[in-house]
Amino acid sequence: MAETLIPIYIMGKRYEVPEGLTIMKALEWAGYQLIRGCGCRGGFCGACATVYRVPGDYRLKVGLACQTPIVPDMYLTELPFFPANKALYDLDQVGDRVDTLLELYPEVARCLGCNTCTKVCPQKLKPIDYIAAALRGDFPRAADLSFDCIMCGLCAARCPGELVPYNVALFVRRYYSKLIRIKPQHLKDRVAEITGGQHDQALADIAAMDEEALKKIYVERDFEKL
Ligand code: SF4
Ligand code: SF4
Ligand code: FES
Repeated sequence: MAETLIPIYIMGKRYEVPEGLTIMKALEWAGYQLIRGCGCRGGFCGACATVYRVPGDYRLKVGLACQTPIVPDMYLTELPFFPANKALYDLDQVGDRVDTLLELYPEVARCLGCNTCTKVCPQKLKPIDYIAAALRGDFPRAADLSFDCIMCGLCAARCPGELVPYNVALFVRRYYSKLIRIKPQHLKDRVAEITGGQHDQALADIAAMDEEALKKIYVERDFEKL
């Protein structure tokens, strides 16, 4: 049976593409070679943020290109990169958690509580809640609430307070992991092995291997059977 073609508009240009494709597949079907804005193709990496409109709806919609199906007359553009503020810090030099948060990202205090971030999040997270938890100094809660963030950038793209929730969350999770969370003994043991040089020779041996030898040890490696 012949494919049904439907019209969509990619960055303003009209294409007819087979019904049922995702935005990402429609882009490729239309001839775009995705170098940026395409990663895992499975909804995990956050590389394929897309904004679009559909006829008869005033709202600007957002989604992941690898997950969102096309609809007739959809008007879309991909946002493979969002120019977001990202603070630099050294976790060995930081002070109190909330003081440091406000020093690095003073704009978090400007959160309006509008919840726009929650409405756009393709992961169904609530950035409003993890930002609030971070501001209260409840870093364990903020780390937990933001754990499934894929850094797609859509919440920052729509935030009227000009926050970048995902970079705030990244700082919070790093601070929590390094300075608050109790380290398990097996992790301490492993780090001691590495810093003590126990694996240096094995790494040097791997670095000296040719491609065939690398393939062989990869195929023959120990791994947990599923
Ligand atoms: S969109 Fe921005 S200002 Fe609104 S609740 Fe989310 S973080 Fe706060
Ligand atoms: S919190 Fe923001 S960056 Fe993270 S997945 Fe949701 S919209 Fe994307
Ligand atoms: S390509 Fe990774 S989330 Fe879409």
